[in-house]
Amino acid sequence: MPQLNILRYPDPRLHTVAKPVAEVDERLRRLADDMLETMYAADGVGLAATQVDVHVRLLVMDTSAERDQPQVLINPEITARSAEMIRGDEGCLSVPTIYDEVERHARVSVRALGRDGQPFEFEAEGLAAVCVQHEMDHLLGKVFVEYLSLLKRERIKIKMIKKTRDELGKR
Ligand code: NI
Repeated sequence: MPQLNILRYPDPRLHTVAKPVAEVDERLRRLADDMLETMYAADGVGLAATQVDVHVRLLVMDTSAERDQPQVLINPEITARSAEMIRGDEGCLSVPTIYDEVERHARVSVRALGRDGQPFEFEAEGLAAVCVQHEMDHLLGKVFVEYLSLLKRERIKIKMIKKTRDELGKR
């Protein structure tokens, strides 16, 4: 299975709104598998299709400590949100080396189709709740740094552009 290229902020394609998946077919399953491989290789806990430049409502995640519980969420929907909020540092494979505090719902109920195309529901809290909210934002074209101040965001943009340039220069 090939690893996929992850778009880096501020790539404008990260702001594309993903379309619902019409059919869970072999091609989509292969994409989900490749995304999982890419996510594990990059040591991430979640990855949205938007980040690999495919604009359909698909995300993968694994927030288990042992990194052995891959989850595939197709057409995910949040059906309930706790009033209680939590603040914690977030990072993103599209914004490497940057971590900053974002406020999220402490618990969410999620409904989605799985890799087999069958609907399932689950309740998430802690890291899983944060992760699913973060990845679902990607599907709406939103990157977590957009919750930060304009000044911080501008600094991050400059840092990412420089980092990308330095990496290209080393090749
Ligand atoms: Ni992200």
